[in-house]
Amino acid sequence: EPVTGIAAVQEHLRELQRIAEANGGNRAVGQPGYKASLDYVKAQLDAAGFTTQVQEFNDLGVITYNLLAETPGGDANRVVMFGAHLDSVSRGPGINDNGTGAAAILQAALDYAGSGATPKNKLRFAFWGAEEEGLVGSTHYVRTLPDAERQKIVAYLNFDMVGSPNAGYFTYDGDDSDGEGAGPGPEGSAQIEKLLNDALAAAGVQTEGTDFDGRSDYGPFIEAGIPAGGTFTGAEQVKTAEQAQKWGGQAGEAFDPCYHRACDTVDNVDTRALDRNLQAIAEAVKVYAEQFPQP
Ligand code: PHE
Ligand code: ZN
Ligand code: ZN
Ligand code: ZN
Repeated sequence: EPVTGIAAVQEHLRELQRIAEANGGNRAVGQPGYKASLDYVKAQLDAAGFTTQVQEFNDLGVITYNLLAETPGGDANRVVMFGAHLDSVSRGPGINDNGTGAAAILQAALDYAGSGATPKNKLRFAFWGAEEEGLVGSTHYVRTLPDAERQKIVAYLNFDMVGSPNAGYFTYDGDDSDGEGAGPGPEGSAQIEKLLNDALAAAGVQTEGTDFDGRSDYGPFIEAGIPAGGTFTGAEQVKTAEQAQKWGGQAGEAFDPCYHRACDTVDNVDTRALDRNLQAIAEAVKVYAEQFPQP
């Protein structure tokens, strides 16, 4: 029996940590641990029948890569994308940031393929390079995509830090329900937020909105007017007493005290939070494989 779901995600995280340890302690842009991470993810997707493509770019004076993997089936004129950055900072192995997002979308892709379903829309999974240098890989991808190809992308879902050890449960605020901050996402973003909120509610969690403040790879997609969304369990911000009451964990401490540090290892992951986010991702894959937007 193949390992699936959260157990498989944990195996991916252990492998990413081994890769960092074998390559100077990180998986950062321009370092061998980044390419080794990409090779690992690509091999898994190739073996599961995805059509993969490595996009090389040199926007930083160093050669680095994005990995794109799509279902062979599905309407090529209607593409639903799921993305996560695969690079770490140079200070550490980057397991919560962002081994968790990368491993979760990887496993959601593998489990979907394993179900034997054929999607109506094409599903494309992106593993971005050089996010930590300023969303460089995702920006390169969106900017170099011909207009006609960009117009085929009906939605983009982003996952950056989805297993924070003092987890919060945030979804990107597509409808700008709080009426402040960055404002709403492109039309269609609100229904992504709702689907993810409903999926997390089914797992027993009440979410809060988080602004599209430009801190992750959805940035270039919303700039291009593509409906976007995603989940996030918190970085350096401090959990409030009210949030601790709602979600458990430690008030007055960061959602991820090891954010961008050497201690961002496999021990820096809340497996239950990661599993809940994995379930939300799997639900979005299943639903949007059939139809986006929803009627
Ligand atoms: N993009 C940030 C990083 O990789 C993490 C982050 C994601 C922060 C989403 C805020 C919101 O360091
Ligand atoms: Zn980071
Ligand atoms: Zn990140
Ligand atoms: Zn909202």
